[in-house]
Amino acid sequence: MDKFIIKGPTPLKGIIPVSGSKNAALPLMAASLLGDSPSTIHLVPRLKDIYTFNNVIRVTGTKVDFDEEANTLTIDPKHLGYLEAPYDLVRKMRASFYMLGTLIGHSGQAKVSLPGGCAWGPRPVDLHLKGFEEMGINIELDQGYVHASTQNHSVEGGEFTLKPSSVGATINLVLGAVKRAKKFTIHNAAREPDVVLLCKMLQQMGADIEGIGTSTLIIRKVDKLSGVDFSNDPDRIETGTFMIAAAMLPKSDITLTGCKPKDLGRFPNAFKKLGVDFSVDGSNIHIKSNNTIHPVSIRTEIYPGFPTDLQAQWATLMTQANGTSTVTDTVYFDRFSYVPELNRLGAKMKVEKNKVTIHGKTPLDGASVMSTDLRASVSLVMAAMAAGGTSEILRIYHLDRGYENLEEKLNNAGASIKRVPQEIPA
Ligand code: EPZ
Repeated sequence: MDKFIIKGPTPLKGIIPVSGSKNAALPLMAASLLGDSPSTIHLVPRLKDIYTFNNVIRVTGTKVDFDEEANTLTIDPKHLGYLEAPYDLVRKMRASFYMLGTLIGHSGQAKVSLPGGCAWGPRPVDLHLKGFEEMGINIELDQGYVHASTQNHSVEGGEFTLKPSSVGATINLVLGAVKRAKKFTIHNAAREPDVVLLCKMLQQMGADIEGIGTSTLIIRKVDKLSGVDFSNDPDRIETGTFMIAAAMLPKSDITLTGCKPKDLGRFPNAFKKLGVDFSVDGSNIHIKSNNTIHPVSIRTEIYPGFPTDLQAQWATLMTQANGTSTVTDTVYFDRFSYVPELNRLGAKMKVEKNKVTIHGKTPLDGASVMSTDLRASVSLVMAAMAAGGTSEILRIYHLDRGYENLEEKLNNAGASIKRVPQEIPA
């Protein structure tokens, strides 16, 4: 288990390239299994979660080749025959649960392990299972596995409303319906760019999907889907993370390249209130920090609202704002494991239910802190870059799940981050 040694404070200057989206790539990989010929996906980031999902997919007999230099995946489902996703892989990465939808779509049956919880509490999959039952798929749970089956080549389908709207359930139900349900309507479907991109890839493969980009998706079964050559989106959460980091570090002046600004939803509306110089030029985003940051309170919402995946980063930024602010998460009510770690660096933050109150501006001083989950970890990196002195961030394997070449990108822009193997305590 590696750790980071970070010296601060350091401004960020120059160019930071944004990689392909982790959360958009995973459903595209799952969709590839539904084609009757190979698919190629471009702009796939070299991340632990991608390698994990490659292995989950390989278990079925599907061939997966990852040209890491070109960030290109080729997936050939010709020999897909083993309709299972085992616990020891699914537990490592929750999105492996997409195999349920994919295998239902491919063969009408599946045996997929229930995903584990995660760092900030239970993450149920009841909507996924109820949606498949509504579709006409037989769902049974046995010893931690979901057993899905249908006697017929196709099922009637029906209508299902997601309460609350769920990215994963929308993705799973779309994957299951495109080759299986005569007509299936999803109400209150998630509208995240990751969902839109998946539907566009499936459409290019030959799927019949109405309402792409809206909260009502109508899927009608087709018998054949063909493999495609398709490009992933840039990572909107990585983009937002680097924007926040630059705003937080005085004297920063960076240009993010390879972005897709329109995927940021309403996040720029909050960002503009900080009083930071911010401009968009095609796929480039330019940020120049000022000495003062205005306190801006936010509430996370489903897309196009402020993303929950940026709430930890925003709360970290608010420790450097001139005044008090609050961050409320309406998507996950207990995603605040980073708060005690930030308080060890000198922040003054207090959590009540699903809201954290941040008293800024507080000077941050280097300390040893522990990563707990992907987005909390990157917030600790940002805080350590803003803190005076040296910080040690433990368990950075969380970071390797979702940020490609993070220390290389930040060090090229002026940070001082060293990755060292963490001695395993005797
Ligand atoms: C996706 O997770 C993302 N993961 C998450 O990003 C992201 O935080 C989340 O969407 C919300 O945007 C991937 O794309 C791989 P949900 P997902 O189903 O699909 C409740 C990251 O850091 N719910 O949209 O699991 C759930 O408890 C990760 O990259 C049910 O109640 O999220 C939550 O409150 C973390 N029953 C809400 O819906 C269900 O069956 C939204 O969750 C499913 C979800």
